[in-house]
Amino acid sequence: MLALSSLPCLPPAASTPIGAEVRRGLTSRPKTLSPWLFYDQRGSELFEAITELPEYYLTRTERGLFARCGDDILAAAGSPRLAILELGAGTAAKTGLLLQAAVRRQGSVTYYPIDISASALEHARRNISQQLPQVTVKPRVADYTTSLDVIPSSGCRRLVLYIGSSIGNFDPSQAAALLRALRRRLAPGDLLLLGVDHIKDRGTLLRAYNDAAGVTAEFNRNALLRINRDLGAAFRPRLFRHRALWNEPESRIEMHLESLVPQQVPIPALEIAIQFRRGETIHTENSYKFTPGSVCRLLARCGFSPVQDWTDPRRWFGLYLVAAA
Ligand SMILES: C[S@@+](CC[C@H](N)C(=O)[O-])C[C@H]1O[C@@H](n2cnc3c(N)ncnc32)[C@H](O)[C@@H]1O
Repeated sequence: MLALSSLPCLPPAASTPIGAEVRRGLTSRPKTLSPWLFYDQRGSELFEAITELPEYYLTRTERGLFARCGDDILAAAGSPRLAILELGAGTAAKTGLLLQAAVRRQGSVTYYPIDISASALEHARRNISQQLPQVTVKPRVADYTTSLDVIPSSGCRRLVLYIGSSIGNFDPSQAAALLRALRRRLAPGDLLLLGVDHIKDRGTLLRAYNDAAGVTAEFNRNALLRINRDLGAAFRPRLFRHRALWNEPESRIEMHLESLVPQQVPIPALEIAIQFRRGETIHTENSYKFTPGSVCRLLARCGFSPVQDWTDPRRWFGLYLVAAA
C-alpha cells in the first residue's frame, strides 16, 4: 500500500474529469482527446449546425428512417407499454419522431434522455415538453461510459436508443465493453435500438467530415477553446488545422487537429506545458463505419439477439433493434 506522503501531488484540476482527460490525452504519444470534450454549450450548438449541412448525410438519413419506419419500430418492440431511454440524446431533435410513434401506440410515454451536456439536455426537455405534452421527460446529466447506473429501473419494458452513429466513436473493444455494460443493466426482454453508419464510398464519407463551410473544423477546434476556458490553457485554435481522413483498414473516419507550427502551450491548471512539433496532430475523434454483418456480430457477442433491422434505399445507415438475450 502507498504511504500518503508518497502519492504524487497533482493540482486539484487534475482530478476533475476534464483535467484528467486533458492530462492523459496530451501527455500520450500520439496525442489524443476524447470526443466528449467537444460537447460544451458551443460544441452542442455546432453539432446541431453540422446535422443541417448538405454534406452530413447521417442525421438526415437516420431521420428519414424514423419518419418512414417509426411505427414499425415501435410495433416490432412489441410490448404493450415501453419506457424510452436515450444514451447521448443531445437535443433529441430526431427522437421526437419515435416518441410520436410511441404516443400513437400507447397514448403516453416516459422518456429518459441521458447526456454529458446539460445545455443540450435542457434544450431537449424544453422542445419535447412543448411539442409532445403526452411525453414525460426525465433528463439525466451523466457520462454513460462510467455511469450507466443512471439507467432507471422501470415498471415497464425499456427501449434504449443509442442512435446517431455514436457507437462509432469507440474502438471495437471499447464499443463491446460499453454494450456489455449496457446489457448487464438491462433485464431480459428489454430492447436496444442501435443507429450505425454503414461503410460507403470514400468521397461521401470524407465530405461529411470536411464540409465546405468549415463548421466541422470549428467544432473540432472547439475542444481547444474549452480547454482554454476550463483549464486556463493558451491554445491558439488558428494554429491548428482540422484534418479528417478515411482509415480504410480500420473502417473509420479519423479527425485530427494538426499543429501548423512548432509551439508550446501552457495549461496552468494542470501545471504543465505541452510541446507540439510542426505537423504533429491531436487525434480528437474516430467514427467507425460498419457493415450489417459486423454490427450483428458485435451485438451478438455482447448478449443481444436480433429483432429487426431497417436501412434506407442506398443502405447508407442502419437501425438495428435487438433484445437483451
Ligand atoms: C454525435 S452527438 C449525437 C446526438 C444525438 N443522439 C443525435 O443522434 O443527433 C453525441 C451526443 O452524445 C453526447 N455524449 C458524448 N459522449 C458522451 C458520454 N460519454 N456520456 C454522455 N453523453 C455523451 C454528446 O454530448 C452529444 O450530445
